[in-house]
Amino acid sequence: MNGRRVLAGRVALVTGGASGIGLACAKRLKAAGARVAVADASTARLARLRRAFAAEDLYPVDVADAAAARDTVADLVARRGRLDVLVLAAGICRDAVLWKMTDDAWDRVIAVDLSGAAHYVRAAAPALRKSRGGRVVLVSSINGRRGKFGPANYAAAKAGLLGLARSAAKELAASGVTVNVVEPGFTDTPMTAGLPADVRARAVAETPLGRAGRPEDVAEAVAFFASPAASHVTGQALAVDGGQAIGA
Ligand code: NAI
Repeated sequence: MNGRRVLAGRVALVTGGASGIGLACAKRLKAAGARVAVADASTARLARLRRAFAAEDLYPVDVADAAAARDTVADLVARRGRLDVLVLAAGICRDAVLWKMTDDAWDRVIAVDLSGAAHYVRAAAPALRKSRGGRVVLVSSINGRRGKFGPANYAAAKAGLLGLARSAAKELAASGVTVNVVEPGFTDTPMTAGLPADVRARAVAETPLGRAGRPEDVAEAVAFFASPAASHVTGQALAVDGGQAIGA
């Protein structure tokens, strides 16, 4: 890969692309030559991207809104003529043990983290099928596979992404579209910045490679899945976690 413009001529859409892992992915795909659009709920964060990305490629949307997903994809395809790469990084967490979790915390995390991804895969599928080499990369989490005390809503949503990805991989394979998943471990982003220091320290302590992830670590894996080099890889999940999931 090495920064070569392997995605020149390609159009990419990154949800959650205004912060953290999604932003690193958007920048990485742009460095690889793609024309990158960003869909994010935070207008303040999107405003900060106006130098790096064209204003018309910044979509202020809630990914939980299925109609907005259709409108966003339709607008992008109408303006840029195609959609080749879809990276689904929008996500939230609202932790509570199951017996204290509110209906709203359960519903909202499933709506954003799982349904939000599904809305974009559904909306983008027709354009991706026309792309001749379409790519979908879903940002899950190691906690979707191993579970975690506290975020059962989040873990369930992230586990659901794997089923979504593998089904989509089968449905889209005949059109040459690949669908893969990255599973970050603890990664330093605005999402984790507000956590207590001991939570971060525990995560690093259980990580064999001995450090927290950087958004760019995840973006490299996403860039691989998005690249022509990964044309024969589909339905796969890759942990980018310094070994956190296998444990120290
Ligand atoms: P972040 O909070 O820095 O970025 C998430 C972005 O998604 C924000 O820009 C936010 O505005 C946007 N977003 C949130 N809800 C949205 C909605 N309803 N519609 C549209 N955009 C929305 O978080 P981070 O850490 O970069 O997370 C990115 C993805 O990586 C998430 O899916 C998260 O679950 C996943 N992840 C993060 C890990 C970490 O340790 N930071 C570990 C494993 C997975």
